[in-house]
Amino acid sequence: DTRDPTSLRTPIVAVLGHVDHGKTSLLDKIRGSAVIEGEAGAITQHIGATAVPLDIISTIAGDLVDPDDFDLPGLLFIDTPGHHSFTTLRSRGGALADIAILVVDVNDGFQPQTLEALEILKRSETPFIVAANKIDTVPGWNVNEDSPINDTYESQSDRVRKRLDENLYEIIGNLSDEGFSADLYWRVQNFQRNVGVVPVSAMTGEGVPDLLTVMMGLSQRYMKEEMEIDVAGPGVGTVLEVKEEKGFGTTIDTVLYDGTIRADDTIVVGGMNKPIVTEVRALLQPRPLAEIRTESRFEKVDEVSAASGIKVAAPDLADAMAGAPVRVVRDRPLEDVVAEVEAELADIAVDTEEQGVVVKADTLGSLEAMADALDEAEVPIVRAEVGDIAPRDISVASTAEDSKQQAILGFNVDVLSDAEQRAEIDDVKLFTDEVIYQLIEEYEQHIEELER
Ligand code: GTP
Ligand code: MG
Repeated sequence: DTRDPTSLRTPIVAVLGHVDHGKTSLLDKIRGSAVIEGEAGAITQHIGATAVPLDIISTIAGDLVDPDDFDLPGLLFIDTPGHHSFTTLRSRGGALADIAILVVDVNDGFQPQTLEALEILKRSETPFIVAANKIDTVPGWNVNEDSPINDTYESQSDRVRKRLDENLYEIIGNLSDEGFSADLYWRVQNFQRNVGVVPVSAMTGEGVPDLLTVMMGLSQRYMKEEMEIDVAGPGVGTVLEVKEEKGFGTTIDTVLYDGTIRADDTIVVGGMNKPIVTEVRALLQPRPLAEIRTESRFEKVDEVSAASGIKVAAPDLADAMAGAPVRVVRDRPLEDVVAEVEAELADIAVDTEEQGVVVKADTLGSLEAMADALDEAEVPIVRAEVGDIAPRDISVASTAEDSKQQAILGFNVDVLSDAEQRAEIDDVKLFTDEVIYQLIEEYEQHIEELER
């Protein structure tokens, strides 16, 4: 790598966890604290992400973070809805997120999507911490708004502390069952070897100073080299979502993790059949909250640098895939960039067999995760694609010689209505779920019933 490292970029933090465990609330809390501090403008709302600069982190964390100890510019948090597959968060065959926060409701404990998140963090070797959220719901809790965990813990009754401890140790035990050595964060020396658990409340802000401190420390300590990028270089990113946007046609919500993208750039995007070469028409950011009443929800910008979330409007994006790479061409030969994107796509491609089941998923990353899980379960795949279950998938599935393989497994996708009818007529079984291992269990149960 001969690039001239000119700047440190913001680490990308994925916020993961089971539905309703408080991911969005946690980010709202961090934003809200900045508003109270009179610093609302400093936090920028991105497409699918929130950028929190170092000085704000330091203000919220109070005594816990001294900005002089850090030279990273802040943190970029990506909120992943519990029902949506965060396996989208991939880059160059690895994880897009540099670090992650796994949010677990202290009362609800481990749930299917918690396990799924852990599975993916394990596979991608992404360093993470656990936010044991909703500590304020422990019966008898004495609220100390926005205070560090140690202070608020001291002010609780013995009974409350005991109850919280029990819940926290259950989470630590669950992590251990999944092969992670974990402990309360203040007992962890090496965050790469051990998972730190931070008790927090997204509602009252208790423990949030600790959470930000640990995240900042983690990134500074272990991420610095990866954060050195050539900011002015051609942008590189990942498609988070492909979306129709009124007045703009098909757009791609993109997380840029390297370089810069400009409003007049030519880009290459991973498509269903082949790389898409297109010209940027507009780069769009959400408008600041204060301006939300204006006509368009978006503001056009001329240039964006990593790390950031940006909506890209351009012609011919209909075939773009969530999880696919995006690369700016700039002063390089177009065919080189196309080859880079092709190589990345080939890297994700699923091996298929002559006979097997049909697999559909919402993103390239989740398709890859499904293929891995099916390989482990020794279920062959005849066809694997991103997208909803369509009639032509039924046609493929119906030709399977083995009736066990006359099946379609759909992860986080819809079944198109004409496909449903076709499936019934052709006797093709459809399985859909939002949790990979549950989807595979459903299929395996079906096989057992057939064999009975
Ligand atoms: P999805 O995006 O649907 O996966 O959910 P999420 O993880 O983003 O959860 P969200 O932040 O939407 O919170 C779900 C519910 O839990 C909301 O009603 C929140 O008000 C509540 N909640 C979140 N954090 C806390 C907390 O710390 N304490 C209490 N008491 N309630 C909380
Ligand atoms: Mg949410």
